[in-house]
Amino acid sequence: MSLIETKNLMAFYGDFQALFGVNIILHPGETIAVIGANGAGKSTLMRSIAGVLRNEPGAILHRGETIGALSAPDVMARGVALVPEGRRLFPSLTVEENLLVGRHGRKVDGPWTLDGVYQLFPILKERRCKPSTALSGGQQQMVAIGRALMSNPEVLLCDELSLGLAPVVIKDIYAAFPRIRETGAAIVIVEQDIAQALKVADRVYCMMEGRVTLEGRPGELDRADIHAAYFGADTHELA
Ligand SMILES: Nc1ncnc2c1ncn2[C@@H]1O[C@H](COP(=O)(O)OP(=O)(O)OP(=O)(O)O)[C@@H](O)[C@H]1O
Ligand SMILES: [Mg+2]
Repeated sequence: MSLIETKNLMAFYGDFQALFGVNIILHPGETIAVIGANGAGKSTLMRSIAGVLRNEPGAILHRGETIGALSAPDVMARGVALVPEGRRLFPSLTVEENLLVGRHGRKVDGPWTLDGVYQLFPILKERRCKPSTALSGGQQQMVAIGRALMSNPEVLLCDELSLGLAPVVIKDIYAAFPRIRETGAAIVIVEQDIAQALKVADRVYCMMEGRVTLEGRPGELDRADIHAAYFGADTHELA
């Protein structure tokens, strides 16, 4: 059975339609990537799954049950955690307090405790009493990932982890993913860096203008097809 499935998912901001019938599927233990240019609808898809944006009940399924209209806290309580675009830490809280916020979202036993997160990102242990604002961008991203892990999610949604980070820092962040996968979590990675997405994901979805334009396993996808799905058919010859 699928862990998460979207079925003809539409999303709106007021009168503006951002998603036009998106169908994606995430299997247990799988890592998928969602790629696409600015404004393609990647964050809207993540926010919809996470319950930040409310949708038709049947547009999103978790283990076959309709969750499209649930609130963000209810979706999190079911084991679906979002690492939001822009990290969104609580600036008045310390690193450790930010991590504990994730624990409150879903109190279940599992592999992720404060110690587990500190083993994954040792620098956070050193800096655990610092306000989150005192951290570098990469360290803040580690806190955002750790906060989501503290709910011991079965689905981890990661929206543009690389945004604004130096390549060496991005490498550190992605180095944590094999360990996260080992715990059995299924992962959705939103990335603008196509090479990074192809490296970490079992399957890739490409979005453009609120629709899925391409889907496949990294090894099966052709560069020119990805380029066309990402930028539009008009630019196909540039690939
Ligand atoms: N709060 C909002 N109000 C109105 N329109 C929005 C809002 N957020 C996003 N949009 C619009 O919805 C569309 C999809 O945006 P979304 O943020 O999902 O794209 P994205 O693929 O995540 O882009 P990026 O790579 O820049 O993060 C865009 O046209 C965007 O302008
Ligand atoms: Mg986005």
